[in-house]
Amino acid sequence: MVTEKTMLEQPAEAPAARDRALYVETYGCQMNKADSELITGLLAREGYRVTDRVDRADVILVNTCAIRENAEQRVLGRMSELNRFKTANPGLILGLCGCMSQHLGDRIIEKAPYIDLVAGPDSYRRLPAMLRALDTEDEPALNLAWDRAEHYLDIDPVREAGVNGWVTIMRGCDKMCTFCIVPFVRGRERSTPHGEVIRQIERLAAEGYREVTLLGQTVNKYRDGDVEFADLLSRAAEIDGIERIRFTSPHPAHFPDRLIEVMAASPKICPHTHLPLQSGASTTLSRMRRDYTPETFLDVVHRLRERIPRITLTTDVIVGFCGETEEEFEATREMMRTVQFDSAFMFKYSPRPGTASHKRLSDDVPEEVKARRLTAVIEMQKSISDTRNRAYRGQVVHVLVEGRSRRDADRLFGKTDTFKTVVFPMLEGVVSNAIVPVRVNGSTPFTLFGDVVKSA
Ligand code: SAH
Ligand code: F3S
Repeated sequence: MVTEKTMLEQPAEAPAARDRALYVETYGCQMNKADSELITGLLAREGYRVTDRVDRADVILVNTCAIRENAEQRVLGRMSELNRFKTANPGLILGLCGCMSQHLGDRIIEKAPYIDLVAGPDSYRRLPAMLRALDTEDEPALNLAWDRAEHYLDIDPVREAGVNGWVTIMRGCDKMCTFCIVPFVRGRERSTPHGEVIRQIERLAAEGYREVTLLGQTVNKYRDGDVEFADLLSRAAEIDGIERIRFTSPHPAHFPDRLIEVMAASPKICPHTHLPLQSGASTTLSRMRRDYTPETFLDVVHRLRERIPRITLTTDVIVGFCGETEEEFEATREMMRTVQFDSAFMFKYSPRPGTASHKRLSDDVPEEVKARRLTAVIEMQKSISDTRNRAYRGQVVHVLVEGRSRRDADRLFGKTDTFKTVVFPMLEGVVSNAIVPVRVNGSTPFTLFGDVVKSA
């Protein structure tokens, strides 16, 4: 009920939350996408209306990534572009969330004084209050407090229409790989209580989701009391309605046989693992403080392939890390040849202020050498991916349909349980969220093509 008092409390020019349109833009990893869903859930509960029209928004929140320098530059460029909407809508609130806000702190306001709000990954619960404060105060609202106890337990994320539900089961990271900014921007490692994880998965199942992805920076280190990651996976696999369970990213140093057994035992746990390699040289891995050697990495690969023969493996690789010699780089190429990953994200090392490699090691691989090495691994991986995808030709795969192909509206796309993208012509009755058999008749290094197998 709107009383005179509550009306008076609302400054004339500021619309009440329920009239405000919220637009959230996301950069970076799946964890960030899941956080955007959380932010949206939190503000929707306060009465904000979610819009996908940036030009109609009263509040724009940009959920940022700080993992590499180019990610940061891109976000800053985008903020200044978004600032233009303030001309037409002077009341517009422009906010920055996520890793970059934590990384740059209040310096961001100096760089971009038009930013009204800065919130780090542990302070999203304060967003409604911060937005309210902006109605009456001229100062930007800033909150970068750490909160080790923050699991965002009672907040139900508002998910974009899609077929994959993300569930954050761990926040932060304690690994301290020397190149990585994540521990500095996302704080200490903590596992979401297992009851909450199961509740969220059950809720997704009730909403009709058939696939869930469990998220964390070192997702296989999950532990809540006696419940380890392997236990959580088997409990998740018992939930009716959920047919595919994925997780990302596991750390190669935490792959006990028990976990592999659980993966092998449940047909719901997808036969795909993203196993970030970073480098194939033991010396580089130790400078990176990765906690494994090429031998122990290969051991995980062998154990996974032995127990789950259909498994696909994807990875992350960094070239040009501090002090990387030609021999060390060759060791990475050799490892990629040996493992034959299905696909890889490959990066040039980008020093991040605050990290151990930035403080103690020298970024001494010249830019042109980094670029040459990156091109070399990309080319090599392309040919490996091509071979691996060709092996699917003639096979029937089961595709969880995500929607229309972005390139061709007459075709649909979706993923196999092994995380291959498949594109195929539309067929009557085949809709998003269906799982359909598709016979593969073509491939590129990135995509499989085929036709739906019609039942007799
Ligand atoms: N938690 C994941 C990694 C998160 S960051 C893990 O277990 O490895 C995602 C990827 O970005 C990393 O795997 C790494 O390959 C890359 N990356 C991180 N910091 C980087 C940096 N400073 N320069 C280049 N690439 C980086
Ligand atoms: Fe980063 Fe290493 Fe953690 S890559 S996210 S510090 S496991």
